[in-house]
Amino acid sequence: MLPSPLISAEAIATRVAAMGQEIARTVPAGDLTVVGVLRGAFIFMADLVRAIPREHRCDFLAVRSYGDATISSGVVQITSDLLLPVEGQHLVLVEDIVDTGLTLKYLLDVFTARRPASLRVCALLSKPSRRRVVVPVDFVGFEVPDEFLVGYGLDAAQRFRHLPYIARLPADAASVGTRLG
Ligand code: IMP
Repeated sequence: MLPSPLISAEAIATRVAAMGQEIARTVPAGDLTVVGVLRGAFIFMADLVRAIPREHRCDFLAVRSYGDATISSGVVQITSDLLLPVEGQHLVLVEDIVDTGLTLKYLLDVFTARRPASLRVCALLSKPSRRRVVVPVDFVGFEVPDEFLVGYGLDAAQRFRHLPYIARLPADAASVGTRLG
């Protein structure tokens, strides 16, 4: 049985529309590149870019942020990098969720070194109570409590990404093992 919604598809759509407007308004004039962090951000990214009423380019990178558990190992690896150059671009990094902040800290260091015109972070979800490092998140969809969430791109061992809403991980799926971002 599918888990029931914690954040409904309608609530997500309303929030994503507002975030798209905010990004278009607040990122300075110039070239804008929106970068989706795979795999968790793939659905959010698809909806978000269609809600940004301003010309921009889309690119993706894939990271492996966790090993064999639902607890952050602190080890982050870029398994597939951007296609486009970053220098001189206003960059918006799009994350599914900022949990410990370790993945984002690593990505911010990597991208800052590539000399973008500016660098902002957009996350659908943020779990502030779980932070282990201080990271700026410029656009946040929803702050959520310390619970493992799935749906709208977020997975547990590749399950539940397809849900059109955000849900708590069902108890009977809690021992799922490997998650790769
Ligand atoms: P962080 O490095 O701990 O901030 O977590 C980075 C990644 O872990 C996120 O981009 C997600 O892919 C994954 N993650 C963290 N919390 C959750 C969750 O509640 N559900 C699904 N994935 C999560």
